[in-house]
Amino acid sequence: MRKVPLIESLAVIGRGSLDWIAGRPLVVSFEVTDACTCYCKHCDHGGPRDESKNLRPTDYRRYMDALRPCVVQVSGGEPLMRPDLVEIVRNIQCGAGLPYTILVSNWSLMTEERYLELRAAGIDQFSVSLDFPDERHDAFRRHPGLYRHLSEIVPRAAALGHDDIVLNSCITSENVGEINAIADKAREWGVNLCYSAYSARRTGCRDFLLNSPEQLALLNRELDKVEARRDATNWIVNSPSTLDATRRYFEHASAPGCKAGQRFLVVTADGALQPCSMQFRRYPLEQRSRMVEEFTRHNGCDECYVSIRSYLDKSFSRLLWENVSGFFSLQSR
Ligand SMILES: C[S@@+](CC[C@H](N)C(=O)[O-])C[C@H]1O[C@@H](n2cnc3c(N)ncnc32)[C@H](O)[C@@H]1O
Ligand code: SF4
Ligand code: SF4
Repeated sequence: MRKVPLIESLAVIGRGSLDWIAGRPLVVSFEVTDACTCYCKHCDHGGPRDESKNLRPTDYRRYMDALRPCVVQVSGGEPLMRPDLVEIVRNIQCGAGLPYTILVSNWSLMTEERYLELRAAGIDQFSVSLDFPDERHDAFRRHPGLYRHLSEIVPRAAALGHDDIVLNSCITSENVGEINAIADKAREWGVNLCYSAYSARRTGCRDFLLNSPEQLALLNRELDKVEARRDATNWIVNSPSTLDATRRYFEHASAPGCKAGQRFLVVTADGALQPCSMQFRRYPLEQRSRMVEEFTRHNGCDECYVSIRSYLDKSFSRLLWENVSGFFSLQSR
Protein backbone atom coordinates (compact mmCIF):
# COMPACT_ATOMS: atom_id res chain seq x y z
CA MET A 1 0.00 0.00 0.00
CA ARG A 2 1.34 3.38 -0.98
CA LYS A 3 2.64 5.41 1.94
CA VAL A 4 1.53 9.00 2.31
CA PRO A 5 4.44 11.45 1.76
CA LEU A 6 6.12 12.80 4.92
CA ILE A 7 4.71 16.35 4.95
CA GLU A 8 1.16 15.10 4.36
CA SER A 9 1.63 12.40 7.02
CA LEU A 10 2.61 15.07 9.54
CA ALA A 11 -0.44 17.16 8.60
CA VAL A 12 -2.85 14.20 8.98
CA ILE A 13 -1.30 13.08 12.27
CA GLY A 14 -1.25 16.66 13.60
CA ARG A 15 -4.93 17.18 12.72
CA GLY A 16 -5.82 13.77 14.22
CA SER A 17 -4.04 14.63 17.47
CA LEU A 18 -5.95 17.92 17.77
CA ASP A 19 -9.24 16.12 17.00
CA TRP A 20 -8.52 13.54 19.70
CA ILE A 21 -7.75 16.20 22.31
CA ALA A 22 -10.76 18.33 21.34
CA GLY A 23 -13.13 15.32 21.29
CA ARG A 24 -13.90 15.90 17.61
CA PRO A 25 -14.43 12.98 15.17
CA LEU A 26 -11.24 11.68 13.56
CA VAL A 27 -13.17 9.98 10.76
CA VAL A 28 -16.29 11.28 9.01
CA SER A 29 -18.15 9.10 6.53
CA PHE A 30 -20.09 11.09 3.94
CA GLU A 31 -22.87 8.91 2.51
CA VAL A 32 -23.26 10.97 -0.65
CA THR A 33 -26.27 9.02 -1.94
CA ASP A 34 -28.68 6.37 -0.64
CA ALA A 35 -29.21 4.93 -4.12
CA CYS A 36 -27.24 1.94 -5.32
CA THR A 37 -26.48 -0.10 -8.44
CA CYS A 38 -26.60 -3.39 -6.48
CA TYR A 39 -29.03 -5.20 -4.18
CA CYS A 40 -26.57 -7.01 -1.92
CA LYS A 41 -27.85 -9.80 0.31
CA HIS A 42 -26.12 -8.38 3.41
CA CYS A 43 -27.14 -4.70 3.05
CA ASP A 44 -30.17 -2.45 3.63
CA HIS A 45 -29.43 -0.28 0.58
CA GLY A 46 -30.25 -1.37 -2.97
CA GLY A 47 -31.67 0.21 -6.11
CA PRO A 48 -32.97 3.73 -6.73
CA ARG A 49 -33.89 6.17 -3.92
CA ASP A 50 -35.15 9.73 -3.70
CA GLU A 51 -32.11 11.88 -4.48
CA SER A 52 -33.85 15.26 -4.52
CA LYS A 53 -32.63 16.25 -1.03
CA ASN A 54 -28.97 15.25 -1.53
CA LEU A 55 -26.37 17.79 -0.39
CA ARG A 56 -24.76 19.72 -3.25
CA PRO A 57 -20.99 19.59 -3.72
CA THR A 58 -20.37 23.02 -2.17
CA ASP A 59 -22.39 22.07 0.97
CA TYR A 60 -19.59 19.66 1.94
CA ARG A 61 -17.26 22.55 2.67
CA ARG A 62 -19.46 23.70 5.56
CA TYR A 63 -19.33 20.20 7.10
CA MET A 64 -15.55 20.04 6.71
CA ASP A 65 -15.10 23.47 8.33
CA ALA A 66 -17.21 22.44 11.33
CA LEU A 67 -16.03 18.83 11.81
CA ARG A 68 -12.37 19.07 10.70
CA PRO A 69 -11.72 15.27 10.50
CA CYS A 70 -8.29 13.96 9.54
CA VAL A 71 -9.80 11.03 7.58
CA VAL A 72 -12.90 11.09 5.35
CA GLN A 73 -14.74 8.18 3.80
CA VAL A 74 -16.87 8.95 0.75
CA SER A 75 -19.49 6.21 0.68
CA GLY A 76 -23.18 5.50 0.13
CA GLY A 77 -25.24 3.74 -1.29
CA GLU A 78 -23.03 3.76 -4.34
CA PRO A 79 -21.05 7.02 -4.51
CA LEU A 80 -20.12 6.62 -8.19
CA MET A 81 -23.83 7.14 -9.01
CA ARG A 82 -23.29 10.83 -8.27
CA PRO A 83 -22.30 12.49 -11.58
CA ASP A 84 -20.82 15.38 -9.51
CA LEU A 85 -18.63 13.11 -7.34
CA VAL A 86 -15.38 14.76 -8.47
CA GLU A 87 -16.79 18.14 -7.37
CA ILE A 88 -17.79 16.70 -4.00
CA VAL A 89 -14.26 15.32 -3.46
CA ARG A 90 -12.72 18.69 -4.40
CA ASN A 91 -14.92 20.45 -1.86
CA ILE A 92 -13.87 18.04 0.88
CA GLN A 93 -10.17 18.83 0.40
CA CYS A 94 -8.62 21.33 2.83
CA GLY A 95 -5.10 21.54 1.34
CA ALA A 96 -1.75 20.13 2.61
CA GLY A 97 -2.99 16.57 1.95
CA LEU A 98 -5.90 16.91 4.39
CA PRO A 99 -8.03 14.99 4.91
CA TYR A 100 -6.80 11.48 4.01
CA THR A 101 -9.74 10.55 1.74
CA ILE A 102 -11.04 7.04 1.03
CA LEU A 103 -13.65 6.26 -1.64
CA VAL A 104 -15.71 3.20 -0.59
CA SER A 105 -17.45 1.83 -3.69
CA ASN A 106 -18.55 -1.31 -5.51
CA TRP A 107 -16.83 -0.01 -8.70
CA SER A 108 -19.73 -1.09 -10.95
CA LEU A 109 -19.51 2.37 -12.60
CA MET A 110 -15.72 2.83 -12.43
CA THR A 111 -13.72 3.62 -15.57
CA GLU A 112 -10.02 4.37 -15.98
CA GLU A 113 -10.83 8.05 -16.71
CA ARG A 114 -12.96 8.41 -13.60
CA TYR A 115 -10.32 6.73 -11.45
CA LEU A 116 -7.72 9.27 -12.64
CA GLU A 117 -10.09 12.24 -12.19
CA LEU A 118 -10.94 11.16 -8.65
CA ARG A 119 -7.25 10.72 -7.78
CA ALA A 120 -6.52 14.19 -9.11
CA ALA A 121 -9.44 15.59 -7.07
CA GLY A 122 -8.00 14.17 -3.83
CA ILE A 123 -8.90 10.48 -3.31
CA ASP A 124 -5.97 8.84 -1.49
CA GLN A 125 -7.37 5.32 -1.27
CA PHE A 126 -9.88 3.42 -3.42
CA SER A 127 -11.71 0.75 -1.42
CA VAL A 128 -13.37 -1.75 -3.81
CA SER A 129 -15.85 -4.24 -2.36
CA LEU A 130 -15.27 -7.89 -3.30
CA ASP A 131 -17.16 -10.70 -1.56
CA PHE A 132 -16.09 -13.66 -3.75
CA PRO A 133 -13.14 -14.27 -6.10
CA ASP A 134 -15.45 -15.27 -8.99
CA GLU A 135 -19.01 -14.89 -10.38
CA ARG A 136 -20.53 -15.76 -6.98
CA HIS A 137 -19.87 -12.05 -6.31
CA ASP A 138 -22.59 -11.21 -8.89
CA ALA A 139 -25.10 -13.48 -7.16
CA PHE A 140 -24.33 -12.05 -3.70
CA ARG A 141 -24.58 -8.47 -4.97
CA ARG A 142 -27.45 -9.27 -7.35
CA HIS A 143 -25.61 -7.50 -10.16
CA PRO A 144 -24.93 -9.70 -13.22
CA GLY A 145 -21.60 -8.98 -14.93
CA LEU A 146 -20.08 -7.12 -11.95
CA TYR A 147 -17.27 -9.62 -11.34
CA ARG A 148 -16.25 -9.64 -15.01
CA HIS A 149 -16.18 -5.81 -15.00
CA LEU A 150 -14.02 -5.79 -11.84
CA SER A 151 -11.65 -8.39 -13.29
CA GLU A 152 -11.00 -5.98 -16.18
CA ILE A 153 -11.01 -2.53 -14.56
CA VAL A 154 -9.23 -3.31 -11.26
CA PRO A 155 -6.01 -4.76 -12.79
CA ARG A 156 -6.05 -2.04 -15.48
CA ALA A 157 -6.23 0.75 -12.89
CA ALA A 158 -3.65 -1.03 -10.71
CA ALA A 159 -1.25 -1.25 -13.65
CA LEU A 160 -1.09 2.57 -13.68
CA GLY A 161 1.17 2.07 -10.67
CA HIS A 162 -0.34 4.33 -8.00
CA ASP A 163 -0.71 1.54 -5.41
CA ASP A 164 -3.83 3.10 -3.92
CA ILE A 165 -6.46 0.37 -4.54
CA VAL A 166 -7.64 -1.89 -1.70
CA LEU A 167 -10.10 -4.77 -2.12
CA ASN A 168 -12.53 -4.65 0.79
CA SER A 169 -13.98 -8.03 1.67
CA CYS A 170 -16.78 -8.27 4.21
CA ILE A 171 -16.48 -11.68 5.92
CA THR A 172 -19.79 -13.59 6.18
CA SER A 173 -20.80 -17.23 6.70
CA GLU A 174 -21.06 -17.46 2.90
CA ASN A 175 -17.47 -16.47 2.08
CA VAL A 176 -15.49 -17.40 5.23
CA GLY A 177 -13.87 -20.28 3.33
CA GLU A 178 -12.78 -17.88 0.55
CA ILE A 179 -10.65 -15.55 2.67
CA ASN A 180 -7.36 -16.71 1.16
CA ALA A 181 -8.80 -17.16 -2.33
CA ILE A 182 -9.77 -13.46 -2.17
CA ALA A 183 -6.20 -12.67 -1.07
CA ASP A 184 -4.94 -14.65 -4.12
CA LYS A 185 -7.21 -12.49 -6.29
CA ALA A 186 -5.80 -9.28 -4.78
CA ARG A 187 -2.29 -10.49 -5.60
CA GLU A 188 -3.32 -11.50 -9.14
CA TRP A 189 -4.88 -8.06 -9.76
CA GLY A 190 -1.92 -6.22 -8.18
CA VAL A 191 -3.88 -4.54 -5.38
CA ASN A 192 -4.06 -4.46 -1.57
CA LEU A 193 -6.61 -6.13 0.69
CA CYS A 194 -8.67 -5.27 3.76
CA TYR A 195 -11.13 -7.53 5.59
CA SER A 196 -14.26 -6.32 7.32
CA ALA A 197 -16.89 -8.18 9.34
CA TYR A 198 -20.59 -8.76 8.68
CA SER A 199 -23.05 -7.19 11.10
CA ALA A 200 -26.67 -8.29 11.44
CA ARG A 201 -27.59 -4.77 12.53
CA ARG A 202 -28.30 -3.53 8.98
CA THR A 203 -30.84 -6.16 7.92
CA GLY A 204 -31.62 -8.13 11.07
CA CYS A 205 -30.50 -11.32 9.28
CA ARG A 206 -28.26 -13.46 11.53
CA ASP A 207 -27.65 -16.17 8.91
CA PHE A 208 -24.49 -14.46 7.64
CA LEU A 209 -22.86 -14.40 11.11
CA LEU A 210 -20.56 -17.32 11.98
CA ASN A 211 -22.99 -19.39 13.99
CA SER A 212 -21.20 -22.74 14.42
CA PRO A 213 -17.89 -23.90 15.96
CA GLU A 214 -16.92 -25.24 12.51
CA GLN A 215 -17.35 -21.81 10.90
CA LEU A 216 -15.32 -20.17 13.68
CA ALA A 217 -12.57 -22.77 13.31
CA LEU A 218 -12.52 -22.14 9.54
CA LEU A 219 -12.25 -18.37 10.17
CA ASN A 220 -9.27 -18.91 12.47
CA ARG A 221 -7.50 -21.24 10.00
CA GLU A 222 -8.03 -18.80 7.13
CA LEU A 223 -6.85 -15.79 9.17
CA ASP A 224 -3.79 -17.72 10.41
CA LYS A 225 -2.84 -18.21 6.75
CA VAL A 226 -3.43 -14.52 6.05
CA GLU A 227 -1.08 -13.57 8.91
CA ALA A 228 1.62 -15.75 7.34
CA ARG A 229 1.24 -13.85 4.04
CA ARG A 230 2.08 -10.38 5.36
CA ASP A 231 5.18 -8.72 3.95
CA ALA A 232 6.91 -5.34 4.04
CA THR A 233 4.65 -3.85 1.33
CA ASN A 234 1.71 -3.61 3.78
CA TRP A 235 -0.62 -5.21 1.17
CA ILE A 236 -2.76 -6.71 3.97
CA VAL A 237 -4.02 -3.39 5.23
CA ASN A 238 -5.65 -4.55 8.51
CA SER A 239 -3.24 -4.56 11.41
CA PRO A 240 -2.75 -7.89 13.26
CA SER A 241 -4.58 -6.40 16.27
CA THR A 242 -7.59 -5.58 14.06
CA LEU A 243 -7.75 -9.13 12.67
CA ASP A 244 -7.51 -10.47 16.25
CA ALA A 245 -10.40 -8.20 17.25
CA THR A 246 -12.33 -9.49 14.21
CA ARG A 247 -11.89 -13.07 15.45
CA ARG A 248 -13.15 -12.05 18.90
CA TYR A 249 -16.11 -10.20 17.37
CA PHE A 250 -17.26 -13.29 15.49
CA GLU A 251 -16.62 -15.58 18.46
CA HIS A 252 -18.72 -13.49 20.88
CA ALA A 253 -21.05 -12.03 18.20
CA SER A 254 -20.34 -8.64 19.76
CA ALA A 255 -17.68 -5.94 20.08
CA PRO A 256 -18.27 -3.63 23.06
CA GLY A 257 -16.85 -0.15 23.66
CA CYS A 258 -18.12 1.61 20.52
CA LYS A 259 -17.38 5.36 20.21
CA ALA A 260 -19.80 6.08 17.34
CA GLY A 261 -20.86 9.70 17.29
CA GLN A 262 -17.68 10.92 18.94
CA ARG A 263 -14.57 9.39 17.34
CA PHE A 264 -16.42 8.87 14.06
CA LEU A 265 -19.78 9.76 12.61
CA VAL A 266 -21.82 9.62 9.43
CA VAL A 267 -23.22 12.52 7.40
CA THR A 268 -26.30 11.28 5.54
CA ALA A 269 -26.98 12.15 1.90
CA ASP A 270 -29.40 14.91 2.97
CA GLY A 271 -26.99 16.37 5.54
CA ALA A 272 -28.00 14.95 8.95
CA LEU A 273 -25.40 13.69 11.43
CA GLN A 274 -25.83 10.06 12.54
CA PRO A 275 -23.62 8.16 15.01
CA CYS A 276 -22.99 5.45 12.40
CA SER A 277 -24.54 3.97 9.26
CA MET A 278 -26.63 1.54 11.33
CA GLN A 279 -27.98 3.91 14.02
CA PHE A 280 -30.61 6.20 12.60
CA ARG A 281 -30.91 9.00 15.20
CA ARG A 282 -30.43 12.19 13.21
CA TYR A 283 -28.97 15.50 14.43
CA PRO A 284 -28.30 18.80 12.66
CA LEU A 285 -24.65 19.74 12.12
CA GLU A 286 -24.82 22.35 14.89
CA GLN A 287 -25.93 19.75 17.48
CA ARG A 288 -23.04 17.30 17.35
CA SER A 289 -22.37 17.68 21.07
CA ARG A 290 -26.01 16.76 21.77
CA MET A 291 -25.46 13.54 19.79
CA VAL A 292 -22.44 12.72 21.98
CA GLU A 293 -24.44 13.48 25.15
CA GLU A 294 -27.59 11.62 24.15
CA PHE A 295 -26.11 8.74 22.17
CA THR A 296 -22.38 8.10 22.61
CA ARG A 297 -22.30 8.50 26.42
CA HIS A 298 -25.00 5.83 26.83
CA ASN A 299 -24.31 3.65 23.78
CA GLY A 300 -24.51 -0.03 24.64
CA CYS A 301 -24.63 -1.21 21.01
CA ASP A 302 -21.93 -3.80 20.29
CA GLU A 303 -23.39 -5.22 17.09
CA CYS A 304 -20.66 -4.57 14.55
CA TYR A 305 -16.96 -4.47 13.96
CA VAL A 306 -16.97 -2.68 10.60
CA SER A 307 -13.85 -0.89 9.31
CA ILE A 308 -14.72 2.53 10.67
CA ARG A 309 -14.79 1.07 14.20
CA SER A 310 -11.73 -1.07 13.73
CA TYR A 311 -9.66 2.05 12.96
CA LEU A 312 -10.73 3.78 16.13
CA ASP A 313 -11.53 1.42 19.03
CA LYS A 314 -7.97 1.74 20.26
CA SER A 315 -5.88 3.92 22.50
CA PHE A 316 -4.49 6.97 20.74
CA SER A 317 -0.90 5.72 21.02
CA ARG A 318 -1.79 2.36 19.43
CA LEU A 319 -3.81 4.06 16.71
CA LEU A 320 -0.96 6.42 15.92
CA TRP A 321 1.62 3.63 15.92
CA GLU A 322 -0.39 1.35 13.63
CA ASN A 323 -1.06 4.13 11.16
CA VAL A 324 2.46 5.52 11.27
CA SER A 325 3.85 2.08 10.44
CA GLY A 326 1.04 1.36 7.96
CA PHE A 327 -0.06 4.30 5.82
CA PHE A 328 2.23 7.14 6.83
CA SER A 329 5.88 7.88 6.14
CA LEU A 330 7.39 8.49 9.55
CA GLN A 331 8.91 5.04 9.67
CA SER A 332 10.71 3.14 6.94
CA ARG A 333 9.19 -0.16 5.80
C1 LIG B 1 -22.58 0.08 2.62
S1 LIG B 1 -21.35 -0.14 1.38
C2 LIG B 1 -21.31 1.45 0.59
C3 LIG B 1 -20.30 1.57 -0.50
C4 LIG B 1 -20.48 0.71 -1.73
N1 LIG B 1 -21.81 0.60 -2.17
C5 LIG B 1 -19.84 -0.65 -1.53
O1 LIG B 1 -20.55 -1.67 -1.50
O2 LIG B 1 -18.63 -0.68 -1.38
C6 LIG B 1 -19.80 -0.11 2.29
C7 LIG B 1 -19.32 -1.45 2.76
O3 LIG B 1 -20.26 -1.96 3.71
C8 LIG B 1 -20.26 -3.35 3.57
N2 LIG B 1 -21.49 -3.87 4.16
C9 LIG B 1 -22.71 -3.90 3.63
N3 LIG B 1 -23.60 -4.49 4.46
C10 LIG B 1 -22.88 -4.83 5.56
C11 LIG B 1 -23.20 -5.48 6.79
N4 LIG B 1 -24.43 -5.91 7.04
N5 LIG B 1 -22.21 -5.66 7.69
C12 LIG B 1 -20.95 -5.23 7.44
N6 LIG B 1 -20.58 -4.61 6.30
C13 LIG B 1 -21.54 -4.42 5.37
C14 LIG B 1 -20.15 -3.58 2.09
O4 LIG B 1 -19.71 -4.90 1.79
C15 LIG B 1 -19.17 -2.50 1.70
O5 LIG B 1 -17.85 -3.01 1.68
S1 SF4 C 1 -23.15 -3.05 0.11
FE1 SF4 C 1 -22.81 -1.27 -1.18
S2 SF4 C 1 -23.26 -2.10 -3.20
FE2 SF4 C 1 -24.24 -3.47 -1.80
S3 SF4 C 1 -26.35 -2.73 -1.60
FE3 SF4 C 1 -25.09 -1.90 0.09
S4 SF4 C 1 -24.51 0.09 -0.64
FE4 SF4 C 1 -25.12 -1.09 -2.43
S1 SF4 D 1 -21.41 -1.08 17.36
FE1 SF4 D 1 -21.26 1.15 17.09
S2 SF4 D 1 -20.77 1.46 14.90
FE2 SF4 D 1 -21.58 -0.65 15.17
S3 SF4 D 1 -23.77 -0.52 14.77
FE3 SF4 D 1 -23.48 -0.30 16.99
S4 SF4 D 1 -23.33 1.91 17.32
FE4 SF4 D 1 -23.01 1.57 15.14
